[in-house]
Amino acid sequence: MEFYIDCGNTELIRHYINNFNLKGITCNPTILIKDGGTIQEVLDTAPEEMELYFEVIATDHKRMIEEARLLSSLRKSITVKIPATPEGFIAIRELAKEGIRTLGTAVYSVQQALSAAYNGAKEVAPYIGRIDNMGFDGVKTALDIHRAFTVQNVDCAVFGASFKNVAQVNEVLINGVNKVTLSTDLFEKYLTDANGIRAAEDFKSAWKSAYGTEHLFISR
Ligand code: E4P
Repeated sequence: MEFYIDCGNTELIRHYINNFNLKGITCNPTILIKDGGTIQEVLDTAPEEMELYFEVIATDHKRMIEEARLLSSLRKSITVKIPATPEGFIAIRELAKEGIRTLGTAVYSVQQALSAAYNGAKEVAPYIGRIDNMGFDGVKTALDIHRAFTVQNVDCAVFGASFKNVAQVNEVLINGVNKVTLSTDLFEKYLTDANGIRAAEDFKSAWKSAYGTEHLFISR
């Protein structure tokens, strides 16, 4: 199981690197815009070995390939996100020949995922929350893709993305998807169960009432 954050804010990136066993960082162009970060700033903040995912902005395969070559030359641990479009599939195929690792992104359907994988993408990112927002079932789409890869023995992993709630994250993890990226807002919700916090506080205050101290080891 691997947790990533969808983030371009260097302060938040630093916070999660320091406080959680984070596998890596994912960005897309709008996340970088929203968080006011740049690719260089993310690179400067993340440790060398941390997995990073940056996305091309071009929509034609020639420029996608150029941008991907540049991105992948920045650091070994970078996977290039290429939109799963007909132009993207051409780019993914060429980049695979060059040994450049890609993830097919903006995936809304099983056929997009299979086409990206078939052309050489090593991962695909179904946009689970966005699919739900269109009135379809994002978790089911992600799990169908996962099953199709397993049944077809395809060497491509599902990387769950665009989650809008904790239940979606749990559902894909329980069913075998092992990479997920969460916005930092959602991450906080994922880590924070109010009942757990209350139970811990109750243990502490019970101890204090009984023994008049917050120290675990008491002398008799
Ligand atoms: C991650 O790699 C995706 O680009 C991201 O999860 C999309 O999230 P959004 O639907 O919140 O923009």
